[in-house]
Amino acid sequence: MLLLPWLAFFIYSASAVLVNVTIDDTFGDPTTGNKIQYSPPSSWNLGGDCNGCSAYPSAAQAYLHTWQDGTFNKDSGSNPNPNQVLLATVPFTGTAVYVYCILALSQASPTGRSDMTFIVDNQVVGTFVNEPQPGQSGFLYNVLVYANNSLADSRHILTIQNGHTDGEKSLILLDYIIYS
Ligand SMILES: *[C@@H]1O[C@H](CO)[C@@H](O)[C@H](O)[C@H]1NC(C)=O
Ligand SMILES: *[C@@H]1O[C@H](CO)[C@@H](O)[C@H](O)[C@H]1NC(C)=O
Repeated sequence: MLLLPWLAFFIYSASAVLVNVTIDDTFGDPTTGNKIQYSPPSSWNLGGDCNGCSAYPSAAQAYLHTWQDGTFNKDSGSNPNPNQVLLATVPFTGTAVYVYCILALSQASPTGRSDMTFIVDNQVVGTFVNEPQPGQSGFLYNVLVYANNSLADSRHILTIQNGHTDGEKSLILLDYIIYS
């Protein structure tokens, strides 16, 4: 009889520690109000609401029906910020972080090539590179492109970089970030 309240207490404590917060690409962090900062701003577009975008994934399959679309391209004249990497930055407090993207599977129209670098507190901690294969098309949703569950329990700043200076063209379709 005495065990049950204790069990309930421990289950409650464990789940309280592991609460996940989802930061939407557009609406931000519902608990802190922080929004993801995008730079350079003119390289990022609200997906699905964008004239210049070539990627048209299904909004119904995106978290809160939104994503951010950005293309790195080093060629001058191809975009307003040639050869400038794209950055998405957000602070969070916790011990784990997970980044979810939509991936385009086509080689062209849209160029589905992915080239992401993940930076936590100014330190490069991971990369995600995907080369689309010939004959493929369509999109993958809820793709976990970076996970880290061994962060110190403190405030952190996550930066997602799309592309590399002088590197190949690459697309990012950022959907959401989870931390806990
Ligand atoms: C939190 O989110 C991560 C990543 O999606 C997942 O692996 C984990 O099971 C979630 N934890 C809880 C308590 O929901
Ligand atoms: C997680 O981040 C820490 C820095 O806070 C880093 O040392 C570690 O390598 C990262 N782990 C992964 C799996 O990226």
